[in-house]
Amino acid sequence: MKVEFYRHALGEEEIASVVETLHSVFLTAGPKTRAFEAAFAEYLGVRRVVGVSSCTSALLLTLRALNVGPGDEVITTPMTFIATANAIIEAGGVPVFVDVEAATGNLDAERVEAAITPRTRAILPVHLYGQMCDMRRLRVIADRHGLALVEDAAHCVEGERDGVRPGQLSDAACFSFYATKNLCAGEGGAVATDRDELAERLFLCRSHGMDKGAADRYHGRYQHWDMVCLGQKANMFDIQAALLLPQIPKIFRHWQRRCEIAAKYESAFTGLPGLELHRLPQGSRHARHLFTIQVPAATRDGFLGRLQALGVGCTVNYRAIHLLTYYQQRFGFQRGTFPVAEAIGDRTVSLPLWVGLQEHEIRHVIDGVRACLE
Ligand SMILES: Cc1ncc(COP(=O)(O)O)c(C=O)c1O
Repeated sequence: MKVEFYRHALGEEEIASVVETLHSVFLTAGPKTRAFEAAFAEYLGVRRVVGVSSCTSALLLTLRALNVGPGDEVITTPMTFIATANAIIEAGGVPVFVDVEAATGNLDAERVEAAITPRTRAILPVHLYGQMCDMRRLRVIADRHGLALVEDAAHCVEGERDGVRPGQLSDAACFSFYATKNLCAGEGGAVATDRDELAERLFLCRSHGMDKGAADRYHGRYQHWDMVCLGQKANMFDIQAALLLPQIPKIFRHWQRRCEIAAKYESAFTGLPGLELHRLPQGSRHARHLFTIQVPAATRDGFLGRLQALGVGCTVNYRAIHLLTYYQQRFGFQRGTFPVAEAIGDRTVSLPLWVGLQEHEIRHVIDGVRACLE
């Protein structure tokens, strides 16, 4: 038996929605993109959503729109996908890593203030695996030092902590609709914000800095467009939005199913010798994007190989990024700099967690993990 690490849940509704779009005039950012932006903003409980081509471009556009530029420091976590820190570098800034909490792998708010310097411009937390960071605490720190606060919410469409959801306390939250994400379009992203002027800036900058898009120019008499700032080409387009729109009403049901699967894993794995689980803080709702276990560092890579040989798809999210070649060479990081992130990076294994998993497949994952620990 082979249990895939991930399979999307796109079905007839999504296919029909794409076909409808293919029969329409707009393939680029048009009415479907606008409808998705409105529906996702309503779902999140934020004023504005700007659809873009990926979470990576969402992060870059947002940092630039918040005036992060050459030499500016942005505090973030080394326990994330490279896109988070790469966006800071791409904007001209310097990623300043702060170690993470052992219990969750999230940026440790306790340590953030000690990393702030006169060059710090922003804090960029990542809701790892779908566990929300302590946004109330980070907001207080950001306000005390006059910093922007941007969330990497690539894993966290459904998360909540202390009554706060992504986009509600920060300047902006950036989402991914990459092929394996909870909302999935193959590729895609969005920025959610309550700040109207930031949203307007992002609409300009996602499309070269042009003050009118193709959809604005379609109706009525011809209107000239102007270029008012230097932007990128990073807009969402209607085929992506057509895939995403029918998924919004299913977010809750799909999240419930992933919670059920995670609960089965947790009850099977709790107390197993040689295996540890993350512990979600009180008052949190886990978005259940990834399910990870931690096994001893010395045996982790062998564990991955044995689990795969048993037909269980698995992967690593993530090896601490400051130890990747580029980051070591550019910034001189060495092992031992962020020991908590490094320990997670050496021990973590991600297991299949997707809506369509069948009971016998869940059992196969559980049996496989048990067998590989022995
Ligand atoms: C935490 C995190 N941030 C950013 C990204 C980048 O997302 P995208 O592929 O949409 O650019 C990912 C994608 O895997 C991610 O996991």
